[in-house]
Amino acid sequence: MGKKLVALTGDRPTGKLHLGHYVGSLASRVQIQEDHRQFVMIADAQALTDYAHEPERVRENILQVALDYLAVGIDPKKTTIFIQSMIPALPEMMMYFLNLVTWNRLKHNPTVKAEIQQKGYGEEVPAGFMVYPVSQAADITAFKADVVPVGEDQIPMIEQTVELVRKFNRMYRTDVLVEPKVVLSKVARLPGTDGREKMGKSLGNAIFLADSPDDVAKKVKGMYTDPNHLRVEDPGKVEGNPVFTYLDAFASDRIKVEELKAHYQRGGLGDSVVKKYLLDVLIAFLDPIRKKREELAKDPGSVMDLLREGTCVANDVADTTLKQMRQAMGILYF
Ligand code: TRP
Repeated sequence: MGKKLVALTGDRPTGKLHLGHYVGSLASRVQIQEDHRQFVMIADAQALTDYAHEPERVRENILQVALDYLAVGIDPKKTTIFIQSMIPALPEMMMYFLNLVTWNRLKHNPTVKAEIQQKGYGEEVPAGFMVYPVSQAADITAFKADVVPVGEDQIPMIEQTVELVRKFNRMYRTDVLVEPKVVLSKVARLPGTDGREKMGKSLGNAIFLADSPDDVAKKVKGMYTDPNHLRVEDPGKVEGNPVFTYLDAFASDRIKVEELKAHYQRGGLGDSVVKKYLLDVLIAFLDPIRKKREELAKDPGSVMDLLREGTCVANDVADTTLKQMRQAMGILYF
């Protein structure tokens, strides 16, 4: 038996988690914890790189995200859940990494470039935002992560991390840092209820894990479908129709889903019938999650205690790596 592989992922606590997070990463974390040494980070310091003006929002969502984790079955006995900003080794590692990457390289990170566009920063990009990929490299390497299970948009972050690891190890003739690998989630990205490519917490097109059955019903009723499917008799399109994408992701009765798709494509199946079925499927999926979440939310103190314990474990690991780095650099003075 070899040593367990280390897996690390994180989320920015800027809102509650939704079905897109479940499909894209939460479900795989629940699996991964069974045979990996897993760390899950609540990336509050990274969230502040673009929400510096709303620290209370970041703070409040730490508890919300933790509740989401626990409710879907991320088990604190198997997974170390911790808060990024409470790990002082991370910014120190980042300081050393910043000397190993050029400004020009940072400007060409495709994910950062796209986010600068989206956020409309123009020339006024916060410096902390520009360098957050280096902070993320510290997150990953502090825990010597072998695998980082993330979505496609995070690939450039892992590439930058690999570059930094190689550069550090070569420059300081050491092998203390571990090169991480991306593990892409198998499921395609979940579209928004409005049919847009991505479900996003700020896009108003998300179904949250904490949503009440009434909220879910409203959102499903208003879902985008095939805009050309005007009358029940008309043949409808299944591709690019989020109602069917969600059924593919959440319905266990595959035969029924295939029947519905065939019927819809033939014509004669109304949107409301498919939506009713989707609602049943989603309620059945979300019910136990919401109930567990409500139960846990009654005692936020215990949830914070779990985060405190996880953060304590994480600090030991990160401090050890930092010490090894300083030793390799010859700057561990005493
Ligand atoms: N950048 C990630 C996101 O936006 C969050 C994150 C922070 C992360 N640190 C990480 C992901 C380390 C994986 C590994 O979702």
